[in-house]
Amino acid sequence: MARITLRQLLDDAAEHSYGVPAFNINNMEQGLAILEAARATDAPVILQASRGARSYAGDIMLAKMMEALEVMYPEIPICIHQDHGDTVATCLSAIQNGFTSVMMDGSLEADGKTPADYTYNAGITGEVSRLAHMVGASVEGELGCLGSLETGGGEAEDGHGFEGTLDRAMLLTDPDEAARFVAETQVDALAVAIGTSHGAYKFSKRPDGEVLAMDLIERLHAKLPDTHLVMHGSSSVPEEWQAVFNASGGEMRETYGVPVEEIVRGIRHGVRKVNIDTDLRLASTAEFRRVAQGSKSEFDPRKFLKPAMTAMTKVCTERFEAFGTAGNAQRIRVIPMADMARRYASGSLTTRSSAARAA
Ligand code: G3H
Ligand code: 13P
Ligand code: ZN
Repeated sequence: MARITLRQLLDDAAEHSYGVPAFNINNMEQGLAILEAARATDAPVILQASRGARSYAGDIMLAKMMEALEVMYPEIPICIHQDHGDTVATCLSAIQNGFTSVMMDGSLEADGKTPADYTYNAGITGEVSRLAHMVGASVEGELGCLGSLETGGGEAEDGHGFEGTLDRAMLLTDPDEAARFVAETQVDALAVAIGTSHGAYKFSKRPDGEVLAMDLIERLHAKLPDTHLVMHGSSSVPEEWQAVFNASGGEMRETYGVPVEEIVRGIRHGVRKVNIDTDLRLASTAEFRRVAQGSKSEFDPRKFLKPAMTAMTKVCTERFEAFGTAGNAQRIRVIPMADMARRYASGSLTTRSSAARAA
């Protein structure tokens, strides 16, 4: 069994200067594809389930699937993370279902679309940290609203994101406020707003510093050198997969994602967790389309799903290699959650210390 907490994994990543992609998971095919890439590259893994994934697959199916993946890939440390938890109950029920880490996204109110004020965000996130740490689970918070610096808009298309437009200041995490937030909430990792957004339509042209504020990552890291930074909305929306999608009857208008080299720059400045969902959605559905168009009589779903898995494994392998995640799995000795709980209780796991060094 190699179920690792986010805190231990990101402490290891900080100590050895790498980043970890956090892939969203909804079904068996995604799980197998991600773990095949992890095995091939010796990479530790973060599997994250959104609230949508939990209602799509069901908590029991997801929990049993995670158990099966652990048995099939015993050499890979696997962190199981709640993506964009919206309430204390969502976070606690995730832990109840075997998750080792939760995101309390208090940047928006519980309706998932109203930008929250600082007091609400720090209050609810601090409450989740206090409870999760009692059982050794890790917590990610978010400060600032994810959205486009090109348009000021959010990405409500995924069912999560503010409606309308926001000022540039609300779309960029303030370093002083971030320092206060981390100290007050004791989160293990902090998601920051730097101009990335969820989904395929992030930028209308290749992003520059005006719309993708990587310099802000550098300032945040300078202010918070011991805090693990998280980049959401970090799919690269590869042109190669857009081309397959569009050549097979798909209609994706011209769009640009977050270039891999910009993420690598972030990893040099404290980014340890990199959220990726869209890239696996795009690569897999591009393959569905290619098969459907090439063999119009095909009706065996496996003939669609197998190439989709191969495509997802390719994307994951590329990210594990680019982010430096590759080659780190076998060194990691997993600290059980009960031990992590003791470390939080004894005060040896404040935001300024490291689980890896304490091990
Ligand atoms: O946070 C956004 C992820 O892409 C999850 O999307 O809620 O459709 O599963 P979802
Ligand atoms: P993408 O839509 O860029 O893949 O982002 C996913 C994400 O941030 C999940 O929390
Ligand atoms: Zn996200």
